[in-house]
Amino acid sequence: GPAESAGPFLFTDMETENKTPTAEAVEMSHSDLSEQIKVVTRDSHLRAENTPLMLSYQKGHVTLEQYKLLLCSLQHIYEALEDVLEENSSHPGVAPIYFPAELARRELLEADLEYFYGQDWRQKVVVPKATERYAHRLRQIGRENPEFLVAHAYTRYLGDLSGGQMIGRITQKCLGLKNGKGMGFFSFPNVSNHNLFKQLYRSRMNSVELTEEQRTGMLEEAVLSFELNIQVFNGLQDIVSSMQKEADPQTHTSQEKLLNGTQ
Ligand code: HEM
Repeated sequence: GPAESAGPFLFTDMETENKTPTAEAVEMSHSDLSEQIKVVTRDSHLRAENTPLMLSYQKGHVTLEQYKLLLCSLQHIYEALEDVLEENSSHPGVAPIYFPAELARRELLEADLEYFYGQDWRQKVVVPKATERYAHRLRQIGRENPEFLVAHAYTRYLGDLSGGQMIGRITQKCLGLKNGKGMGFFSFPNVSNHNLFKQLYRSRMNSVELTEEQRTGMLEEAVLSFELNIQVFNGLQDIVSSMQKEADPQTHTSQEKLLNGTQ
């Protein structure tokens, strides 16, 4: 079955027919990792959706500053994630979910950052402490518990293929970016059908054998990975607010006057 043919391949409709991911999905049950992980992260997903940054997206607006800052953090995160996935690509817990040709975001993010910041973007990127903590955790898991990497890859990549696509459409609409310029991050040229790919990904997750202890650890790591994302979004919003204060000293001073006036 497909679960044995680990390793990357280009996911096309034709291959879908041969590999029948739906046949695998039929065998899913509540004890499957993909189901359990979805259930345990349901609350966290809701909280992620309700961060100020994600709420602003759901109301249909994003500023160039917000988007550029988001890209900086995503680059930092995916650099770590894709480094550790590659380093552990032959680990039995990673190989089945290792799809660099279909999923890798790193080079796309680098091109997007170059588009907005120029060739010396590496000198210009700004990331909140929370982003560094997230990247640090990814590298730690890569060294100490590579079998938990699937929890992190799931949160990011399946999110990018789901709500992430809405984020992409709103970014395009708000910033009027033409021909996908600066928006490579949202594109998956080697995934022809997002829903089918997500089904395949879930069945691959479910093919990994885990002890009960590993399974518990995995579910905890999935919740943590959502938490790390939430902290990144909040950190980004803090940077945006402090930039607005700097750009608008008038409000700042009048607020200070107000504060002083009440003393
Ligand atoms: C799935 C919406 C933010 C991670 C989904 C799905 C929707 C959605 C509608 C279901 C797709 C499906 O069942 O096939 C949103 C919206 C968001 C948002 C509106 C914010 C505006 C996030 C964030 C993350 C995330 C911030 C994590 C960093 C995921 C994951 C899934 C998912 C991992 C796959 C769940 C599964 O099938 O097991 N999202 N999302 N989402 N989302 Fe989000």
